[in-house]
Formats: sequence, C-alpha cells, structure tokens
Amino acid sequence: MLLYQIAPKPAPDYTAAKTQRQKQRAAGLHPDYWYPALWSHELLAGQVKEVVFWKRSFAIFRGEDGVVRALENRCAHRQLKLSLGNVEGCELTCAYHGWTFDGGGQCTHIEHSLFGHKMPNVKIQAFPVQERYGIIFIFPGNPELKDEHALPEIPEWDRQSGWGKIPADFLWNAHHSIIIDNTCDFTHAYLHRDRRPFTYAELKHLGTEGDAVDLEYDTRVGDTRLQRLFVNQKSTNTNAMKLGYRYPYQWSSTDDKIKHWCFVLPMDERTTRAFFLFYFSPDTVRIPGVPFRLPQAIVNAVMPIAKRLFVTPLLDQDRMAVEAEQEGYDKHWDKPVPDLNPVPQAFMQLTIRKWEEYLAG
Ligand code: FES
Ligand SMILES: [Fe+2]
Repeated sequence: MLLYQIAPKPAPDYTAAKTQRQKQRAAGLHPDYWYPALWSHELLAGQVKEVVFWKRSFAIFRGEDGVVRALENRCAHRQLKLSLGNVEGCELTCAYHGWTFDGGGQCTHIEHSLFGHKMPNVKIQAFPVQERYGIIFIFPGNPELKDEHALPEIPEWDRQSGWGKIPADFLWNAHHSIIIDNTCDFTHAYLHRDRRPFTYAELKHLGTEGDAVDLEYDTRVGDTRLQRLFVNQKSTNTNAMKLGYRYPYQWSSTDDKIKHWCFVLPMDERTTRAFFLFYFSPDTVRIPGVPFRLPQAIVNAVMPIAKRLFVTPLLDQDRMAVEAEQEGYDKHWDKPVPDLNPVPQAFMQLTIRKWEEYLAG
C-alpha cells in the first residue's frame, strides 16, 4: 500500500530537457528584441528601479531631463545593485561608496579620495531604451540589432486616434509560453464559460512564416448580451478573430476594430510580467440607447469601466489557469500533453527555434 507520495523531481533545465514540451517550458526569449520593462508612469524623473529580464537584472532610471536609461544592475566597484543607488542629475550613483555612472555605463565620478590614483576607466554595460505606447522598452541583447527588430507600429494608440484604449498588466507565476499559449488557444472557452469572450471556436487558418505564426478562428466574440450592448454589431463582425504570435509578441484583431497586443517580460522559468494594450475602434464602442458615434471624451470615460467589468475579471480567470498549469507542469513535467488544437504546437516550435538560434549565436 502506498502511504506517501515521493516528492517530484524538479523540471529539467534546457540542456536536460528531452521532449519539445520540456524544451519550450525551459526556454527563454531571444534577447535581441525589445521587451517591456515598466509603464512610463512607474518611473518618475529622479527614480531608479530594478527590472529582471530572464534572470538578468537591470537598473532602469529616469534622469532629471526625463530621459530613461538602462544599465546592468551592478556597480563596477563591489557589484552592489545600482538600483539601490540614487539618480543625480542624469547619472546614477551607487549607494555604497558613491561611484557615479552615466547613461552609457561609464564611471564619471568617485565620491571619495582617489588615494593618489588617476580616475580609473571603468565601465558597465548600457542598453538601448525607448518609450512607446506608455511603456518603457529595453533591448537586452546586441544593441546593433535594435533597429532590425523594431516594435510593432500601433498608430491606434496615439492620443489623437479616437480609439478607446485599455492598458493592463499582470505579474503571473508562469512561464511566458504558458501565457502566450493561453491567449491564442481558444479551446479554453470553458474557463470563461460565464463571461464568453469567445465561444464555439473553429480553427480556419494556421500558418507559420518566418518568425510569426498567424491563425484565425470562426468564433463568437463577446458572446453575452451585456457585451453585445457595448459593441456595435452593425459596424463590427464579431464572428471571427485573427490572432498571432509575432515573436516575441502576441496580438489579436476582431474585424480590425477590436485589437490587442501583449508584450511579455520573461523574468525566469516561472515568472512573467505581461503588458497588454487593448484598443477599440471609435465606431465599435457604443452605449445602449445612444444612436450617434461617441465623442472621444465619452469613449475615454467608458474604457476604465470596460476594464473593470470585462478585462480584469477575464484575465483573473486566465491567471488562475496559467499559474495552476505551471504548478501542474512543475510536478508532472514528464507526463505527455495530448493537445488537440495544433496552435500550441506551432507556437512551441517557434519558441524553441528562436531560443536555439540564441544559444547557437
Ligand atoms: S560598491 Fe558601488 S561604490 Fe562601492
Ligand atoms: Fe483566456
């Protein structure tokens, strides 16, 4: 008789992984892309914060000039985290002995006596930064490739576009691939059976081209009476949705009227911060009983309500599921995963191929 369970062996790291699934769940994301670090509003002038990209720590700081800079998070003197230090002007000073580093990583000043030495020429690594869509993005890989792997263009996110915008972010205890699978694998309509963001999904198209997987479902989007009240069914076809994994980002589009991008910050094998931008065409958003197109101010006012009523509760259900999937994987990583939908398989191949490209490079 079995009186106790043997503690499970930890999931293998990438080099020990045997199956495709084990490789996927141990893979990082290729650093030669732009990754979201923080919302712009999370970093005020004069502030420094630590951000982790795939087990590497970065000190991100905003100078008094408003410009954001990113450095590897270690002082060149005794390797303290520079995120413990202080922003002075447009430079970052270590908390311990007061060595100061500029945005290029050069040590420019030492607070204490040089004991007769010349000012030492020490430098730490600096990383490209850009702010777009209200997000601070860093490029943790080879800076020479920063223009080659550009961020997607989202003109709808401009202030003047008239589109309704909902930014949302979550720190989830799950591998990035579990999160990206979740956003595109519509077999999990059951999880959302009360909120019905998509129902009766049938895969119409799935294709991989270069570093992108595109797919389309026939599905009923926003399939409740309440959601239909707020979405103009005449101007928007809610019977299909296109989605994609444009490595390393994920997107969707319902009739080009309801869209989103999801940018993930993979922190380690079990921790991911996901930044979502949801946006809605001005002729899609309506208020029951109001016959005319809503002015921008009204659309803006409706968005936080939509976030509270629909987006946050929905993503909370996903959080429960992806964190539970991670827990299940950690215990049962050697069990087979009999997926019926080919979408997660296509995503898995892309994630592994890109990670192997990185490891080979
Ligand atoms: S450890 Fe940073 S100044 Fe000494
Ligand atoms: Fe979901």
